[in-house]
Amino acid sequence: RRVVVLISGSGSNLQALIDAQTHDRLGGEIVAVISNEHDAYGLKRAHEAGIEAVALPHREYDSRDAYDGALIKVIERHEPDLIVLAGFMRILTPRFVQRFLGRMLNIHPSLLPAYQGLNTHTRALADGVASHGCSVHFVTEELDGGPVVLQAELAVTEEDTAETLKEKVHAREHLIYPIAVQWFLQGRLQFSPEGAKMDGHLL
Ligand code: GRF
Repeated sequence: RRVVVLISGSGSNLQALIDAQTHDRLGGEIVAVISNEHDAYGLKRAHEAGIEAVALPHREYDSRDAYDGALIKVIERHEPDLIVLAGFMRILTPRFVQRFLGRMLNIHPSLLPAYQGLNTHTRALADGVASHGCSVHFVTEELDGGPVVLQAELAVTEEDTAETLKEKVHAREHLIYPIAVQWFLQGRLQFSPEGAKMDGHLL
């Protein structure tokens, strides 16, 4: 089973996936890592792991549609079973989402459906929530709105700041993302418009 990972930055979730693969816990092979930022540290991580690392800067394209068209081409060259968004900071066109519907996952730093979008930790703190976390979900046309697959929850304490929350959530992301990817590659996890299914049952 073949996986393509899309990143924009540090790629610590990518690293967690690479580590899982090294320990035979991914259920497949990461065949390429693509970044829209040419200097993303994650490209280095890919390179060091012997994985093809591709920089595809969005600034070199006139429109979102032209960029997504180019991105589709690069992705399809690698014939992936699954596309994993790991800190890919681009809003995708409907054409792109439709092309890979049901075989594209994202990880988001909140307990979805709460706090879609940016600055999730600051917003959660401002609301005084008792718990926070992260979610793996299938990607649909609604930003951060696709069916949730797996979440990790943690308690928010009085001492927490946006920084400490970010760190704690990140550590949870690294635990749950490889598990969700493995479920998908094992054929246990499916997308359906009513929600994600695990072994044929609605989650
Ligand atoms: C993570 O917080 C993830 O939830 C969000 O982008 C961040 C990526 O971090 N989608 P990293 O590049 O994997 O370190």
